[in-house]
This record gives sequence, C-alpha cells and structure tokens, in this order.
Amino acid sequence: MVDSDLSYITTQTNQRYLHVITWGCQMNVYDSNRMVDLLRPLGYKVTNEAEQADVLVLNTCHIRDKATEKVFSELGRLKQIKDYRKEQGHNTLIAVAGCVAQAEGKMILQRAPYVDIVLGPQTYHRLPKMILDVARKTGNVIETDFPVESKFDFLPAPEEAAGYTAFLTIQEGCDKFCSFCVVPYTRGSEESRPVQAILDEANRLCDLGVKEISLLGQNVNAYHGQGPDGNTWNLAKLAEKLSTIPGLSRIRYTTSHPRDMDDSLIDAHRDLPSLMPFLHLPVQSGSDRVLKAMNRGHTADEYRKIIDKLKKARPDIALSSDFIVGHPGESIDDFKATMQLVKDVTFAQAFSFKYSPRPGTSAALSSYQVAEEEKNERLQELQALLRDQQTQFNQNTVGRQIPILFTNTGRKNGQIAGKSPYLQAVHVNADENLIGQERMVLVEECLTNSLSGSLIHKEGVSS
Ligand code: SAH
Ligand code: SF4
Ligand code: F3S
Repeated sequence: MVDSDLSYITTQTNQRYLHVITWGCQMNVYDSNRMVDLLRPLGYKVTNEAEQADVLVLNTCHIRDKATEKVFSELGRLKQIKDYRKEQGHNTLIAVAGCVAQAEGKMILQRAPYVDIVLGPQTYHRLPKMILDVARKTGNVIETDFPVESKFDFLPAPEEAAGYTAFLTIQEGCDKFCSFCVVPYTRGSEESRPVQAILDEANRLCDLGVKEISLLGQNVNAYHGQGPDGNTWNLAKLAEKLSTIPGLSRIRYTTSHPRDMDDSLIDAHRDLPSLMPFLHLPVQSGSDRVLKAMNRGHTADEYRKIIDKLKKARPDIALSSDFIVGHPGESIDDFKATMQLVKDVTFAQAFSFKYSPRPGTSAALSSYQVAEEEKNERLQELQALLRDQQTQFNQNTVGRQIPILFTNTGRKNGQIAGKSPYLQAVHVNADENLIGQERMVLVEECLTNSLSGSLIHKEGVSS
C-alpha cells in the first residue's frame, strides 16, 4: 500500500508524529531511541498515542516463544489504526524493525502487505531515506542486508536524554553460536565500536544531564574496539576512561559472557568506584554436559571460579544470571546441577526461561526434546529458589546506608524513586528537586518489588 504524496515528511504545515513500540532486550531500547533521533530532524515528535502517529515503528524480538506470531497479531492491531486514520484522511506508515524483521524479512510483507518498511537491526540508519522512498515511489521497502557501512557512522548525536540514566551500545552481534540462540543470525557477527565514538556519545549524554550509563552489547565484555592510540582497547580500559568523565557517577555493562570475563575486568570492579557492583553474567545451566551441548565454552566450575574472583575483588558485588531449563537432552540430574550452582553462587536477581526451539538453531533439530510438563516443573522449582535468594538479598540491605540515584517521582505523593548500586528500586519521602542526584539513604523496609528508606541528611554523596 503506497501513498504517493510526501505527507510523511512535510514539516512546515503541521507537526508529524512517531510512535515506537519496543520489545526485547536493552539493545532494542537503544535502537528505538536512535530511530527517534534519526527522525527528529525530519520534524517527527514522539507520541504515546498510536492513533496520533504518522509513522508507527514496531521494534521486534525473536529470542523465544511465538515471536513471529506475536508480531503478526500486533500488526493486525496497527492495521486497524492505519485504516481508521485513512478514514479520517491521514496517511500512516508502518515499519517493522528489529530481530523478527531480520529473520523473517520478505515474509512479513507477504503476510502483511499493509506494512510499508521492513528493516533489520543493522540498517535502521537508512530509515529516513526509506520513508522518503515509500513516499515517493511505489511498493514497500525492505532493508535486511548486513551492510558494509556501520550504522553508527550515520546516527546523529543524541539531542535529548530520556532521563538520568541512558543506554549506550558499544558492541553488537555474536560469533558464539550457542545451540539455542538466534542472535548470531539476527544481529550478525561481533563488532565493536571505536573508543572515540563511544567517548563522544557518553560525553554528549552527560552534557544532557545523564548520570548513569549502561554499556550494551550482546557480548559486551568481548568488547575490543579501536582506541585513539591505535591499539585495541578492552572493556576494562574503556570503563577506566569513561570513569574520568565529569558527572558520570555510575557505569554498568550488560550482557556479559563468562568466557570473556577476564582478569582486567574483574580488577576494574575493585579499582573503579563508578563501575557498579552488579554483574549480569548468564550461565544458562549448572551441568557440564548441558553447557557442552549448548556450546557455551566453559564448565560450571569455571563459572564458580570467576564468581569467586569477582567476590574477592568487590565483596559486595550483586550477581544476576539467565537460566534455561529443558534444553534438549537435559536430564533430571543435569537440572539438579543447575539448582546446586544457584545454591553455591547465590543471585541477587535472575531471569529463567523454558527452552524454546528457535528455527535455524542447532538445538531445535535435536531429537531429545524435553517434555513441556517437565520443563514447567523444573522452571517452577528453579524460580522458587531464585525468588528466595532475591528476597534474601533485598532483606540483607535493610539497615544499610546506600547511595541511591534518584531518577523519578515515586508512586505515592511526596515520594521519589531511584536505584541502588545493586539495581534495586528504592523509594523515599523527599523533595522532587533531588531527582537527578545521588544521595545516601538508610534502607528501612523490604517490600515485594522495592525497598523503602529515608534520606541521611548529614552528608550526601556527590550529586
Ligand atoms: N548474549 C547473552 C544472552 C542474550 S539472549 C548471553 O550470551 O548470555 C538473553 C537470554 O535469553 C539468554 O541468556 C537465554 O537465557 C535466553 N534465551 C535465548 N535463547 C533462548 C531459547 N531458545 N529458549 C529459551 N531461552 C532463550
Ligand atoms: Fe546468544 Fe550465545 Fe551469543 Fe549470547 S553468546 S547472544 S546466548 S549465541
Ligand atoms: Fe531479542 Fe534481538 Fe535482543 S532477538 S533479545 S531483540 S538481540
């Protein structure tokens, strides 16, 4: 479906609106923000009302479950909006971005011909041109190649920060090919951005008021970008440099792979106060047999050793992980080994999933699939243990004085809310003008999903 006028890009007469729906990981959140940055110079303003939008972007995730079906059901809803707006005399452009767009490509246009643009995670820098192409030409536009140019070279510097915390993608793609995972197929091979580009973006974000940056990558600790000195820099060196940016009080990074957790990064947790004592380090399973079948490239004891080193370097470090239960071939003993590893390590939080066969991955072809009922039981047992550990971790912070970076108002009147270094949500009764500052808080109570406390007035942490 094509509209021959240029109304998507005419900005002089009236405001154009953009509505972005984001599913999936933080990298998709980052990508969505960058698409907004790309369209801002064309006169687009973000709206939370899909019905108001001239351009609707659905940024999709392909990692688990019925990802593709979910996309088509959402597209059905967007089509209704497009039809309704048409009746009111407005054109609407629908773009499908992200990992399902990359994986399904043309099939999306075949099943949903009212979609105007399909663009992969590596081609969204071409979105303004694609919108123009749709407006000027005939037919829908598809861009899912892995281009030779890097999209990062074409993205404008952020002009607005959404708040006091921001994501910054430093590395993309994956060469590890875990048996279960679609990411190497949807995001392409591993690439690191040059150090200077990252520093420029981080400085820009801090100028806009950002206090905490989360460095992102599918394998963020495999970062090996070109440094300004001509050498290759690893994540530890990059974090050290970032920690010198005035006003940047917190640095985080995610997601890491145990294979790339080298000593220099562990030491950085000891040496850099702004590197937050929180690490998301997915282990997936505690069974060596399953880890091997998953092609993870390490054993359960190697993971335990990394954790021991981290705890020595930064004794208060809080740990998080991802787990998959019911990977093909996982026996009850393998599952017990996962439970044992959780007991040994103890996690502050974690994500756990039932194995979900993904088209094109090697595990999906295995004939040793675990029964659904069995997966359900294992998941429940694991999640109960992880929940207990999370509650215990949160309860252990009661009575402690912790610096909290306040980022928004709380749910109740007079409350403000923020995050602890360990990524816990904390709220206190305090004046709104403290939002954007980091202050010491005495944690007094552990609630179901958050902590509450009170400000310590003597001496705040630097804001
Ligand atoms: N790069 C990260 C993970 C990215 S995907 C890493 O290497 O750990 C996020 C999480 O989704 C994974 O850690 C895994 O636990 C889960 N996941 C990925 N594919 C899955 C599948 N097919 N079924 C169930 N969970 C899956
Ligand atoms: Fe997927 Fe494995 Fe790569 Fe993580 S390391 S993105 S789980 S293939
Ligand atoms: Fe999903 Fe793609 Fe991220 S599959 S988890 S949006 S890399």
